[in-house]
Amino acid sequence: MIPEHVTLVEVGPRDGLQNEAQPVATAHKVELVRRLQAAGLREIEVTSFVSPKWVPQMADNAQVMAAIARPAGVRHSVLVPNMLGLQAALVGGEVTRPDEIVVFGAATQAFSQRNINCSIEQSIARFAPVVAAAHAAGLKVRSAISCALGCPYQGEVTPDEVEHLVKLFKQIGVDHCGVADTIGVGTPRRVQAAMERALKHYPLDQVSGHFHDTYGQALANILACLQMGIHNFDTSVAGLGGCPYAKGATGNVATEDVVFMLQGMGIHTGIDLDALVDAGAFISDLLGRAPVSRVGKALLIKRGRVFA
Ligand code: HMG
Ligand code: MG
Repeated sequence: MIPEHVTLVEVGPRDGLQNEAQPVATAHKVELVRRLQAAGLREIEVTSFVSPKWVPQMADNAQVMAAIARPAGVRHSVLVPNMLGLQAALVGGEVTRPDEIVVFGAATQAFSQRNINCSIEQSIARFAPVVAAAHAAGLKVRSAISCALGCPYQGEVTPDEVEHLVKLFKQIGVDHCGVADTIGVGTPRRVQAAMERALKHYPLDQVSGHFHDTYGQALANILACLQMGIHNFDTSVAGLGGCPYAKGATGNVATEDVVFMLQGMGIHTGIDLDALVDAGAFISDLLGRAPVSRVGKALLIKRGRVFA
């Protein structure tokens, strides 16, 4: 049964911008978040409290969290790799703390080592006290399972490997299971096989898809998830992004493209597509390129914009 309502978690400010080589000013990140809020996004992944040596673009995490508006009804999340990251996310108190954190592991040992410098087992041992402390502070905890459909170092990844990490996250009390196709190689049936494993351990409304669109499969993969009733997806405005530890991986599926598809299917998202296209144009102009979003670009051309 295809869902009537879909929730999109906008990850552009984090997953999108983390991969930009040129510095993006804190004020511009804050303005992007404001525009996304205004476009009706109700879940926004704002930044990450990771090591600035590993991901310099996210070094202004605390400043961004302190500067964004916190309108009622909008949930803001941040990535946290360890206790140091959680403490940094909480230090500013009520006004600046996130509503939710994301702990991120990988289905393969090789990616876990490259991305967070430890094995899968070490990552779980590291996350367990973070999850407990986040819950004690009243925060929800989402997970991201990187490389669920393929790994840039290992190659093929099996549903068993995905389920192994799903179970480990469940055991340490993570509330939500995010299945991530880091390098965008998943295809619909394989995505469904991975999702089935997540759904063995998490309820339907606590499973989400995070699809990078490197091979152009993301919309098809989202449709395959919708057919299973899955109704939570991460998307990135203007198709921003990639992962600094997955060479050649391009951005997440563009929020504009997903909203256009869902609107066409009569599925409610609460998002104003025109305002979203404006937000995508704003950040793409700042970065000096056309939006990667096909829908964003098409609607801007319709409005009279010319792209080289
Ligand atoms: P490490 O070097 O093993 O950590 O990194 P460490 O504990 O040995 O500490 C080394 C130094 O880092 C110390 O500083 C710590 O204080 C500092 P020094 O004494 O050398 O001056 N440090 C920190 N500083 C700030 N915030 C922190 C923090 N932790 C340690 N939280 C670590 C381990 C996990 C920290 C590192 O590997 C890291 O930050 N990795 C993050 C990588 C990352 O952000 N990748 C991109 C996000 S994941 C992604 O995009 C995938 C996703 O989108 C899903 C998908 O598509 O697959 C979610
Ligand atoms: Mg990602």
